[in-house]
Amino acid sequence: MKVKPRVPEGGAIEDTETISMEEYSTIMKKRLGSEYDRFADNVINRVNPLKNSKVLEIGPGPGWAGIKLLQKRADLSLDGLEASADMIRVANKNAQDEGLAHLVKYIKGVGEDMSTLHDHHYDLVISRDSMHHWDDPQQVFLEISRVLKEDGKLYIHDSRRDLNLAGQLIINVIGPVMAGKMLKYWKSSIAASYTPEEIREILKRNGLNDWNVEADLMDLSIQKQ
Ligand SMILES: C[S@@+](CC[C@H](N)C(=O)[O-])C[C@H]1O[C@@H](n2cnc3c(N)ncnc32)[C@H](O)[C@@H]1O
Repeated sequence: MKVKPRVPEGGAIEDTETISMEEYSTIMKKRLGSEYDRFADNVINRVNPLKNSKVLEIGPGPGWAGIKLLQKRADLSLDGLEASADMIRVANKNAQDEGLAHLVKYIKGVGEDMSTLHDHHYDLVISRDSMHHWDDPQQVFLEISRVLKEDGKLYIHDSRRDLNLAGQLIINVIGPVMAGKMLKYWKSSIAASYTPEEIREILKRNGLNDWNVEADLMDLSIQKQ
């Protein structure tokens, strides 16, 4: 199967004239509530964070994925590295409303440059649906391996660009029902995503041999246990 070239989506997601990040946050919570739950369960079941882990989330957006994780594992604390000041404003409000402000800190910055973060500081790095915005995933991976403790864990989730026929059917037939007005954003996210093979190649080139790529019909994940 021939895979179309990646169509980058740009980095930070910010307020526009048509949508504020408060509205974006509300839509995401309503539409993706069960997906955030699934993400948090996957983090817990697949990489099994140690008790009292310090977690770094890259690209938390409105914060719902990390918030779900903290609701299930109140022993964890979380720093969120986010490119968009508008998203940080909303994530802070969401964490406050959920009674979790004491456990989270959002930091403005990009995954490609984590120079404000200390070496080997975090027990776990997570990210949900942000990687397709990263212009330089290799640089983000190198930064992750610097800030992660040596025996630290990792769970990154994103869509995959190389959808097979069944995946394409889901997007084009069930997609309009599942996503409504958000379908065009779902499609552009897929077009901006990486393929499992592209990610495996970057990991191999950089000697990140204990980072495993798993893929299913629509998504991919990178895991280190
Ligand atoms: C599609 S949103 C996903 C937000 C959230 N993780 C979720 O699942 O709802 C992608 C987020 O990544 C942020 N982002 C994009 N590029 C980034 C980068 N290089 N470093 C950190 N955050 C980035 C965007 O501003 C946006 O908030």
